[in-house]
Amino acid sequence: MNAVPGASAERERISRVTATPSDIQAAADVLRAGGLVAFPTETVYGLGADAENPAAVTRTFTVKGRPPSHPLIVHIAGLEHLDAWVADVPETARVLAERFWPGPLTLVLRRSPRVPLEATGGMDTVAVRVPDHPVALELLKAFGGGVTAPSANRFGSVSPTTAEHVRSELGDAVDFVLDGGPCHVGVESTIVDTTGEVPSVLRPGGVTREQLEEALGRPLAVDSSSRIRVPGQHPSHYAPRATVVLVEPGDVIAEAQRAQEEGHQVGVFLPPQFADAPVKAHAVAVVPGSDAEYARELYGFLRELDQRGCDLIIASLPAEEGLGLAIANRLRRAAGPRSGR
Ligand code: TXA
Ligand code: MG
Repeated sequence: MNAVPGASAERERISRVTATPSDIQAAADVLRAGGLVAFPTETVYGLGADAENPAAVTRTFTVKGRPPSHPLIVHIAGLEHLDAWVADVPETARVLAERFWPGPLTLVLRRSPRVPLEATGGMDTVAVRVPDHPVALELLKAFGGGVTAPSANRFGSVSPTTAEHVRSELGDAVDFVLDGGPCHVGVESTIVDTTGEVPSVLRPGGVTREQLEEALGRPLAVDSSSRIRVPGQHPSHYAPRATVVLVEPGDVIAEAQRAQEEGHQVGVFLPPQFADAPVKAHAVAVVPGSDAEYARELYGFLRELDQRGCDLIIASLPAEEGLGLAIANRLRRAAGPRSGR
C-alpha cells in the first residue's frame, strides 16, 4: 500500500513561507493597478481583484474559465464596512455576522450600487464575507476596498489550500501570490441567503448548520437547489481528474481491490475505522478521524491522488453532521451525477 501523507507534513514544510508586510503592500498595489492577487483565507486560497474595477473582476472569470453569470464573493476587512456594500442588513444577517465574522460564513444580501454587476453575475444581490486569516485581513486593510475572490482554481476543479496549489494550477495567469501557509479550515465558507423571509443555507461550509441554528435559535433550511445561481452546487464541481466513486464505508476496500484488478490505478479514501487494514490499490489516503482534520486534508488528498496518476478514486461519505455535511457535499459534487447518491 502506497500511503498518502496528510497535509500536516506539507504544513510543516511550508509553514515557514509566509507573506511579509512588504509582500502584502506590494499585493495591495497590484490590486490597485487592476491586477489579480491570489491570497490565503482560512477556507481556501482566493483569486482576488478590486471589487470596484469591472475590468479586473472580468479578468477573474477569464483566468478561471468561469462563466460570467456566476457571481463572486466580495471580501471585506470587517463588519464595519458591510453597510457600504449592501442596500440593507436584515437582523438575521447582523446576528450571524456579529457571531461568525471574521470566519467561514458568507452572507447573501441585497447589493448597493457600489457593487458592479460584473461581480454579481447581473444579480441584485451580493455575497459578502470577512475572512479569518491574518494575511487576508492585512491585505484588505492595506488595500482599503472590497476584494472579489472566487477560489483560485480553474472552474470545476479542486480548490487550492496551499500557495503551491495555486502556482501549479494558475501559474503566470496570476500577478501575485501571497503565501500564508496551508488553509486551516480547508473547505469553503458556508453561504447563507438572508434576503428572503427565512434564511437558507445555499452551500454548506466551514460554519456548521448546528452553529448557525444555535446562533439564530431556530432550524435552518438547506436549499441547494435554489433559484439563485450557485455554481459550486452544480454536478462535477470540486472535481479531480480521476473519476470519484462513492460507496458504503464497509465496501471501500473490496471495491478498490476489484477496480485495481480490473486495471485501474485506484486511489482510496480509507475510512478511519479501517486505517490498519491491508488495501490493494495504487495509493491510499487514510481519512482522519476528526472532521476538522478531514476538511483540512480533503482537497490536498484529491490533488495528491491525481498527481500520483490515479484514474479512479473510491471513497465513502462521512456522517452528515457538523463539518461532515460540507465534506459529504464536496465529495458528492466531485463524484458528479455518476455517483447516483
Ligand atoms: O470560502 C470561500 O467562500 C472562498 C474563499 C476564497 O473566500 N471563496 C469561494 O468562492 O468559494 P467561489 O467563487 O468559488 O464560490 C462562491 C459561491 C458560488 O457558488 C457563487 O454562486 C455563490 O458563492 N454566490 C456568490 N454571489 C452570490 C449571490 N449573490 N447569490 C447566491 N450565491 C452567490
Ligand atoms: Mg470555487
